[in-house]
Amino acid sequence: MATTPASIIGRAVPRIDGPLKTSGTAKYSSDHNFPNMVYAVPVCSTIGKGRIRRLDSSAAEVMPGVVRVYRHGKVPPIYRPIPHDRTARIDESRPPFEDERIYYNGQYVALAVADSYEHAKAAAGAVKVEYDAETPNVSLDLSDGFNDSMQEESKRGDVDAAFASAPVKIDETYVTPVETHNPIELHASVATWDGSRFVLYETTQAVMNHQAVMAQMLGVPRENVQIVMKFLGSGFGGKLWPWPQAMLAAVAARDLNRPVKLVIDRSMMFTCAGHRPRTQQRIRLGATPDGKLVSLEHDYANHSSISTVGHFRENCGEATPFLYSTPNLRVRSNVVDRNVGTPTPMRGPGAVPGLFALESGIDELAIKLKMDPVQFRLMNEPKLDESKGMPFSSRHLKECLTQGAEKFGWSAYKPEIGSMRRGDITLGWGVASCSWIAGRGACKATLSLRDDGTARIACATQDIGTGTYTVFAQVVSEKTGLPLHKIDVVLGNSSLPPGPTSGGSMVTGTVIPAIIQAADAAIRQLLTVATTASDTPFQNRKPEELVLTEGRIQLKSDAASAVPFETILKRANIRTAEGEGNSGPNSTDPQLRNYSFHSFGAHFLEVEWDAGIARLRVSRVVTVIDVGRIVNLKAARNQVEGAIVMGVGMGMLERTIYDPRNGRPVNNNVADYLMATNADCPEIDVTFLDYPDKLLNEVGARGVGEIGLAGVAAAITNATYHATGVRVRELPIRLETLMEQEKGSTTRRA
Ligand code: MOS
Repeated sequence: MATTPASIIGRAVPRIDGPLKTSGTAKYSSDHNFPNMVYAVPVCSTIGKGRIRRLDSSAAEVMPGVVRVYRHGKVPPIYRPIPHDRTARIDESRPPFEDERIYYNGQYVALAVADSYEHAKAAAGAVKVEYDAETPNVSLDLSDGFNDSMQEESKRGDVDAAFASAPVKIDETYVTPVETHNPIELHASVATWDGSRFVLYETTQAVMNHQAVMAQMLGVPRENVQIVMKFLGSGFGGKLWPWPQAMLAAVAARDLNRPVKLVIDRSMMFTCAGHRPRTQQRIRLGATPDGKLVSLEHDYANHSSISTVGHFRENCGEATPFLYSTPNLRVRSNVVDRNVGTPTPMRGPGAVPGLFALESGIDELAIKLKMDPVQFRLMNEPKLDESKGMPFSSRHLKECLTQGAEKFGWSAYKPEIGSMRRGDITLGWGVASCSWIAGRGACKATLSLRDDGTARIACATQDIGTGTYTVFAQVVSEKTGLPLHKIDVVLGNSSLPPGPTSGGSMVTGTVIPAIIQAADAAIRQLLTVATTASDTPFQNRKPEELVLTEGRIQLKSDAASAVPFETILKRANIRTAEGEGNSGPNSTDPQLRNYSFHSFGAHFLEVEWDAGIARLRVSRVVTVIDVGRIVNLKAARNQVEGAIVMGVGMGMLERTIYDPRNGRPVNNNVADYLMATNADCPEIDVTFLDYPDKLLNEVGARGVGEIGLAGVAAAITNATYHATGVRVRELPIRLETLMEQEKGSTTRRA
């Protein structure tokens, strides 16, 4: 007799798309080639502010193979997108070549199109541009944002009075630098036009959004634009919304009536495709002498581009209002304009820089109180989301902290600076909490059960390298009993039933209800077919008497009656049984509106400080994460480990440096822009708590892409303080700072 196989949900299933990637047969966007295709190369501004005085493309236009040179005044219309349209999001909203002003260094000023990449590149280099240059404002000091125009984001009690009278307090400013997304895959657009419709092969984390934006900016109906993205070489948020190269490729394709390929180069990734903006954050905390938080104030500003180009707000206060219990709280923010390209979300936008500041401040206050930093956090655990007065759907931060402390061996922590050693090495221990939004968006999906015994699940979302193909297949397998190799997952095409953006770690939580509905509907239809097919044990039975188990239809009352479902479809001469799922956001569900949905976690981290050779290394990481139920343990652990590697980069290496004379990012390549690799990281010990969040979806899964990065940088600077006595409040940690200041603090200690 058939036994029910153990659930495939939660297992460490290898990626179903792995073989395509490891064999080089997965087609990335720039891998698409067409007959008669031409290549486009942008010309980038070499000044950071000013105006184009003269642009001479006459020499370029007569070079071998050159088809056209586009520029301001000589380009088909590109329209502005509708402002604040949540279905058509874009950060750099200024259409390329809209005017002759230069707002940032690297801004596209012309586009050379030719019959080969080399010809186009040579032509782009031959375009002569003269500028009226002004000095760009790339000031690192964001104090101009700290004024009366700050926007109040969250408020309770009276922070001013509470802070003034708090017996123990800190008032410190923390700074995070510009970080640039550096996915291996460059941004690419391959545009085709058939006389009335565009098919655009794009590097995007959101085919539906991309379609909506492109339709608006190209001035065509949405149904005349199809976006395709089958595989992404990572995005980290940089590929959420369209960038100017996409519009340029599309208008050129329509204008020339030829396919156009435009792949930007690595230096353009630093200017024309977003970055995590610089932030300056002032944290004011007040507590009673026994460690009860009485006041929490978080004021911050981030830089953005000149607002004509685009306005981006980094939501640093995301987790601040609900992470700890305090009767008095205020969060205020502002955005200041600089001559830089428009920022965009980068993995864990808002919370990641925000929690660097908050979790540093919490550490500083705990030290001032002479309290254990884990104990201090546990003492200030809230019973509910105090900013909304609502219960959390599921919150286990306390357990993240206590389990993490246990696994790390925190009971051996000695608070005196520099007191923990391993041979000649000074050890530093640090801890930080983390949190990330959990939510569910709108999603449709269709499931087909086919007469060859396979299933097809389709949805216009996409797999950005995180495992979405596999998660879909697992949920379908769970519902139908089919093995993974009999399930086709079709994503990455805007013509499919509309699905979510791959952002905010929301895809898994969002798609599960739609897939389950689609599967239930398809199975219902299949069982109805079974009651009509001749020569079967099910003819003239009622569908309710039947069940689909492990891909076979049977009478509920008689396991021996089981027949493979494809046999039934064949006998009925029906190709597929189909079902559609259609689920909505949790935020609009009346049953769920009174819950606060978030994920939580805690990082425990050790650094080794070798003062003799000024070497700082992260030597141990223990992370405990509370994201509800895990669908794929392997993919989930991979996400958190990767995020922690990025966190080591954020804490110790990453920053984009602008030349103050011309606003040019000077380290605009992967040799000079330092990112953490596995060699910079120790073994990473990740534990997932297993508390299904059944309010969010039937499986209880939240998302896991971004939370692992939040808090890591603070855990590193907290540990570094413990080792060296140097408090680093501006990222990344620089060895010079440690060397200079440690002398002082050693003297002070002596
Ligand atoms: Mo994430 S920054 O929402 O791709």
